Amino acid sequence: MDEMSRDIMNPFPWYKRMRSENPVYYDPEYRLVNVFRYTDVKETLGNFNKFSSQFGKAFNPAGGPISESIINLDPPKHTKLRNIVSRAFTPRTIEKMAPQIREIAESLLNAKKGHEVDIIKEFTSPLPITVIATMLGIPLKDMDMFKKWSDTIVGGSETSFTNFPKTIEDMKGYFQKLMIEKEKNPDESLVYSVLNAEVDGEKLTMMESLGFFILLLVAGNETTTNLLSNALLTFSENPGTYEAMRDDSKLIPQALEEVLRYRSPVQSIYRVARDDTDLSGVPIRKGSIMVPWIGSANRDESIFEDADKFIIGRKENRHIAFGEGIHYCLGAPLARLEAKIAMEYMTENFGSYEILRNRKMIPQESTIVYGFKELWVKLN
Ligand code: HEM
Repeated sequence: MDEMSRDIMNPFPWYKRMRSENPVYYDPEYRLVNVFRYTDVKETLGNFNKFSSQFGKAFNPAGGPISESIINLDPPKHTKLRNIVSRAFTPRTIEKMAPQIREIAESLLNAKKGHEVDIIKEFTSPLPITVIATMLGIPLKDMDMFKKWSDTIVGGSETSFTNFPKTIEDMKGYFQKLMIEKEKNPDESLVYSVLNAEVDGEKLTMMESLGFFILLLVAGNETTTNLLSNALLTFSENPGTYEAMRDDSKLIPQALEEVLRYRSPVQSIYRVARDDTDLSGVPIRKGSIMVPWIGSANRDESIFEDADKFIIGRKENRHIAFGEGIHYCLGAPLARLEAKIAMEYMTENFGSYEILRNRKMIPQESTIVYGFKELWVKLN
């Protein structure tokens, strides 16, 4: 970082200053090249010939399955694996989930009217975890165990760090059994369809499939949780927004797109420079770790008018909250659907809500994901 430290809940003034004074900034302390402007962030994320997603195991505590997964691969291997998993993760598969997502939302928030709840614990966290577990075909009896694994994997706390290797081993064992089971008894689950999806006669290996399943937890759960809790905070700061969506549910998708821009659930991503190169004229050494700040790109005043304002009806919202190029978020349609159904359910069932600022508002301690660990809300 530089002398003006990054405020975890409000990094936006820092980004603004960096866009103007130091848009491609080498941080000698952490040896990172920080990238702040929209066009440069897009270039860093999208130009895989210059910037690789492959870090090797040293950078990845999960090692094994995760480093074999698409998010950490470059073409040609990325292209091959992504083509195969895309066959299983189709918009149709996702659209089919709508009624179940609604049921899950209902089961979590039913009878909560008038209550004060930690909305993360009660709703925004269990929702995506239960959705993905259902899609994978995890039996109901294993759901609690699955939730615990998911918490450990994305947890970031000391206990979760200690439990991490064991959890990966446990998940490996579990998924291996589940995969054998699904081969014997084919069904419509994601586990079965990923195992059997093929492109040009090629399928994923067991390890690659496992990497993909674990990646879905890592990439899909906390991000969606954060989108929803960031949405609740943002709507509460902009009076009239919730009421407008309550009166006209067609406004919900565009309001969520603006939250994705305004408070991006993923603020930064990593890449590594393949060779000596440059970015907007700044020389970059081969092997440099690049940090494209999505959270800053989405506030770039040269792209977005009144970038620091939340505008529900923003025209041409070209945010890059789901990334750019070949690694563009595979789960974007699912995240959008979950968030839409969640907000529909809320606006249909609660006339209003208030954020309880006298209770704890605990932010995520991360430069990568942005949101809350705990957020208390009264549902009216
Ligand atoms: C609001 C919620 C979400 C946000 C903001 C988000 C954001 C992102 C971003 C920025 C990337 C690009 C990473 C890169 O360039 O290195 C990405 C990739 C990915 N996301 Fe999401 N994501 C969300 C939800 C989900 C969900 C629900 C799933 C699946 C269940 C998912 C699965 C993936 C996968 C598999 C990739 C890797 C794609 C590839 O490398 O080809 N994401 N996501």
